[in-house]
Amino acid sequence: MASNNDSAKKKLYIKTYGCQMNVYDSARMGDVLAPLGYETSDDYEDADLVILNTCHIREKAEDKVYSDLGRVRDEKKRKADKGEKMLIAVGGCVGQAEGAEIIKRAPFVDIVMGPQTYHGLPEMVTRAIRDNGGVVELDFAAVDKFDKLPEAANSQGVSAFLSVQEGCDKFCSFCVVPYTRGAEYSRDSAKVIEEAKRMVDSGTVEINLLGQNVNAYHGAKADGSAMSLAELIAELAKINGLERIRYTTSHPRDMTQELIDIHGSEPKLMPYLHLPIQSGSNGVLKRMNRKHDAAFYLDIIERLRKSRPDMAFSSDFIVGFPGETDAEFEETMELVRKVKYASAYSFKYSPRPGTPASVDEQLPEPVKQERLARLQGLLCEHQTQFNESCIGQTMRILLDREGKFDGQLMGKSPYMQSVHLFGAESMRGQFVDVKITAGYLNSLAGELVQPPIRKVS
Ligand code: 5AD
Ligand code: SF4
Repeated sequence: MASNNDSAKKKLYIKTYGCQMNVYDSARMGDVLAPLGYETSDDYEDADLVILNTCHIREKAEDKVYSDLGRVRDEKKRKADKGEKMLIAVGGCVGQAEGAEIIKRAPFVDIVMGPQTYHGLPEMVTRAIRDNGGVVELDFAAVDKFDKLPEAANSQGVSAFLSVQEGCDKFCSFCVVPYTRGAEYSRDSAKVIEEAKRMVDSGTVEINLLGQNVNAYHGAKADGSAMSLAELIAELAKINGLERIRYTTSHPRDMTQELIDIHGSEPKLMPYLHLPIQSGSNGVLKRMNRKHDAAFYLDIIERLRKSRPDMAFSSDFIVGFPGETDAEFEETMELVRKVKYASAYSFKYSPRPGTPASVDEQLPEPVKQERLARLQGLLCEHQTQFNESCIGQTMRILLDREGKFDGQLMGKSPYMQSVHLFGAESMRGQFVDVKITAGYLNSLAGELVQPPIRKVS
């Protein structure tokens, strides 16, 4: 049987569901387990440890976890038949929300852990091997988690996420996040700045600051006072070699004038903002406990456009919230026509156990379906129009990925659009100026207009 102290390499497979926060957490799980000899792999065949880093935000996401668990169980059994061991861990928000229930429903699961506990993974793995599973860790101390995590591995790439804030105190009536991620917590500003510097030293040129309510950031400064997100951005912008800063996800209530102003004054801050409104109807917003109305939101959009005229926006929408009338849904359509989003995510309301709205009477599925289709039709129309309006412009793109086809490279525009072009593999990781030649629903195509700006190694 494999033991914790084996020097032999062990195979680790992590499957990530849901938000960017989970993507970030999964990378850090890999960092935490590396000293034990675990190496991440793209498939779960023959894995020594499988971690499902789950999402509980909508029912579909949760169902997916259980169907994936079935497949992993078969592999565990196949290994057991060969006399080998596979540990299975369920982390993330399903882990937090369901806890030991998961082991009842799926007894072959060895470890259940919440999103605030994975710094303790080495110890949990040791215990699971010793006790043959049965490990459940659902602590909520976000402070500990960040303090105890090792420095991120050096391989984060030219564009990387940096987690600065976690949790949420807003308690929207549809949302599980305050229950699964816990209270709002901001990392100390000095630690964030230090980590950003390390990332830049190791080749990162674009940082996307992450948090469930990132613009509620209020990390402690050395003197104990709180640093706002705008101040943090200003500090990070001073780092030589850091070229681009983004942040996500923001709440309208925390969109301060200071933050709006810095979009106009700091060129390293990208002209794109994901600012979910959820609904355009004041009645629905009230029942959602959003604590803002549509006019408040539209005023923020207007002030941001004044501060930075080329600002592009995206949002999340929920249709079919309990009690949503036809007229209320039309108010959402109207708001969308006013803002004209560059991109957006939209969902049918999904009742989440334990949240206030889940006990209210549900709208019929066909109503939800029809509204979602209409909303998505409008959003796609605007997204395509926005992308087409970029044809002829020259944009600076950070080429961070391979494209779909041979010889194709991809990167994000300042407005978060995916841009693809043909170019040499040696241009990967560099900024290039690109003339946009075509705009589609989900991407832009372009041509190189000059040699790469500079080499980023
Ligand atoms: N049903 C549908 N969508 C939801 N979201 C959050 N909770 C629910 C739910 N119960 C959506 C919101 C949020 C995004 C991350 O997921 O739009 O902004
Ligand atoms: Fe959920 Fe609302 Fe908090 Fe966003 S602000 S994480 S939707 S409770």
